[in-house]
Amino acid sequence: MSYFSSEWLKLRENADHRARNRELLAKIEMHFASRESVFVVDLGTGLGSNLRAVASYLPSRQYWMLVDHDPELLTAACEAVAAWADASHPTNSGLEASRDGRSVLIELKQADLAVEPAVWGDLQPDFVTSAALFDLVSAEWIERLVAAVTQAGSAFYAALTHSHSAEWSPPHPADAAMRAAFENHFGRDKGFGPSAGSRATEFLATQFSAAGYSIERKPSPWHLDAADAALIATLVDGWAEAVTETGEIPATTVASWLKARKMSGISCVIGHEDLLALPPP
Ligand SMILES: C[S@@+](CC[C@H](N)C(=O)[O-])C[C@H]1O[C@@H](n2cnc3c(N)ncnc32)[C@H](O)[C@@H]1O
Repeated sequence: MSYFSSEWLKLRENADHRARNRELLAKIEMHFASRESVFVVDLGTGLGSNLRAVASYLPSRQYWMLVDHDPELLTAACEAVAAWADASHPTNSGLEASRDGRSVLIELKQADLAVEPAVWGDLQPDFVTSAALFDLVSAEWIERLVAAVTQAGSAFYAALTHSHSAEWSPPHPADAAMRAAFENHFGRDKGFGPSAGSRATEFLATQFSAAGYSIERKPSPWHLDAADAALIATLVDGWAEAVTETGEIPATTVASWLKARKMSGISCVIGHEDLLALPPP
C-alpha cells in the first residue's frame, strides 16, 4: 500500500487526530480568536484530514484551499469532508459545508507542489498548513516554501512530521537496526529532491526563525495498541518493504522482525513532531 493511497490515509486518520499536540492547537485557536474569517491553504491535503482536525480551532467562516497533485484524492477529500459536515453542497470549485456552526468553503486545487510551493499565487493566505508532508520534501524545497509563506506574512503549522523515534513493546533484537535502515530509506527522493525526513522540523524552525517568526515545536507521537492492529500491520509491512529495499538488513532478520511485529499484543510509540510558526506582530 502506498503512503499516499486513500486506504492508508483512512487507516491513519484516527491515530493522527489523537496524536496532534493539543497545546499547539490551542495556540492556533488563540492566534485567530479575534477574527471572524480565515483563509487557509492545506498543502498535500490527501483526504482532507488536516481540515477535519483543525477546523474547530478556527473562526466561524473558513475558506480552505485544499491542494494535492492527485485528482482522485481531491475528489475523495471532498466526499470525506461532506461526510464529516453537518450539511454540505457541491460548488463549481469544491464544496460548501457547515459543521458545529462554522461555515467551511472549500476550493480543490490540483497542483504539483514540487514545481511551485506557493500555489496561492497573488492571494494572501492567513494560514498555511500541512500534515504528514514535510518529511517527504527536501531542505531546498522547505527554503522555497518558507520564503513564500513569510512573504505573504501567513501563520504556518506543520503537523505530524516524522521524527526518528520508534519504541516497540515487547522489544525485538532487530528494532534498532530496522529503525536505522528505515531512516536511511526515508532520505530518498519522494518527488521533491532528497527527503528531509526527521530533520524537516529543524529545517523549518531555522528558516522561520531567520525570518523573525516565533516558533513552537511539540511532540505528537502515535500511541498504537491492540485497537490499532490494522494500522500497525500496514505500518510494519511498509517498514519491512522499505528496509528490504535498502539491502542493509539480512532478509531473515527482516522476516523475523515482521513476524514478531504482527503478533497480537504489540504496542508502539512512533515519533512525530508538530511545529507552529507565527509571524512577527
Ligand atoms: C502522507 S500524505 C498526507 C495526506 C494528508 N495531509 C493527511 O494528513 O492525511 C502526503 C500527501 O501529499 C500529496 N503529495 C505528494 N507529493 C505531492 C506533490 N508533488 N504535489 C502535491 N501533492 C503531493 C500526496 O498525494 C498525499 O496526499
